[in-house]
Amino acid sequence: MEPLTNTDLELPLLHKGKVREMYKYEEDKILMVATDRISAFDVVFGEGVPYKGMVLSTLSKFWFEKTKHILPNHMISTEMPESLPKEIRGRGMIVKKAKPLGIEVIVRGYITGSAFKDYQKNGSVCGIALPEGLENGDKFPEPLFTPSTKAKEGHDINISEAQAEKEVGEEKLRLIKEKAIELYKFGHDYLLGRGLILADTKFEFGELPDGSLILIDEVMTPDSSRYWPKDEYDKGNLVSLDKQYLRNYLETLDWPKTYPPPILPPEVIGNVSRLYLDVYEKITGEKFPTEEREKEETGPAEQEPSEPAQEEAEPEAKGQEQA
Ligand SMILES: Nc1ncnc2c1ncn2[C@@H]1O[C@H](COP(=O)(O)OP(=O)(O)OP(=O)(O)O)[C@@H](O)[C@H]1O
Ligand SMILES: [Mg+2]
Repeated sequence: MEPLTNTDLELPLLHKGKVREMYKYEEDKILMVATDRISAFDVVFGEGVPYKGMVLSTLSKFWFEKTKHILPNHMISTEMPESLPKEIRGRGMIVKKAKPLGIEVIVRGYITGSAFKDYQKNGSVCGIALPEGLENGDKFPEPLFTPSTKAKEGHDINISEAQAEKEVGEEKLRLIKEKAIELYKFGHDYLLGRGLILADTKFEFGELPDGSLILIDEVMTPDSSRYWPKDEYDKGNLVSLDKQYLRNYLETLDWPKTYPPPILPPEVIGNVSRLYLDVYEKITGEKFPTEEREKEETGPAEQEPSEPAQEEAEPEAKGQEQA
């Protein structure tokens, strides 16, 4: 499938993020479209990753449904009106328009990534003191709540809870912290049952006009989370099934992590695409219906005669089997 890196809908564009495009749908509703763009270290790459946007959108829907008893969220529907182009099906979501809070929060159950670097340097993570001797991947006794400011441009900046309190107020921060940790624990326990460890994940919250707090953006996707296979973890290996794979690849390059981005080789793009599809399947227990799979499963002889005529199919890319 050709990746979709940009959309141009006949609706007012409210915001073009690194990955998602937000259109005004109705006064209080937004049409959020997850493109196949990928970013790392806050730099957006020129290439798109096939199926990525669909995986992010479908996984977010999955989690929004599963976690709404913990906190209501912005999702209204993933049914796209006929009037909009087909290309946004599977990647579009109509959501409640919220006022995003000035902070994002990461809940970390395990020490790794920037938190581990911070710990090695300072003996603490985002100002939270920790015992000596922690190794990359170790589990915290209790999940850590680490807020950051949502920078308009460039990198988000980690802030202390006291600073976050100044941003959103004491009472709201207490609620956000409680809900974020509960959401993380829910996701972590659910994924353990599917053989995965949710090492950390980022949440965004927003406020509705009545002042109530809701979960917005995306939830526990491979863009916003780190997951590791549990069997490998138990053997002492941290195998990344998420965007960390790309970050690890980028660390092998001599690239200063600023624009312009390097060109991503087709193998790397293919690997990221497969990782995202695989993790979707691990999480939901269902195969993601890619074009290639649909074709394999409904061989030409079995095709429903009542189906609308399909566009001329691309020849099967047989050379692109799993590496
Ligand atoms: N329900 C909602 N109401 C209003 N804004 C939302 C809602 N859900 C998500 N958003 C915002 O839409 C944007 C989603 O786009 P994306 O995640 O691609 O952006 P980003 O690059 O991470 O962030 P930004 O564009 O703010 O730098 C984010 O800015 C997010 O805060
Ligand atoms: Mg974002």
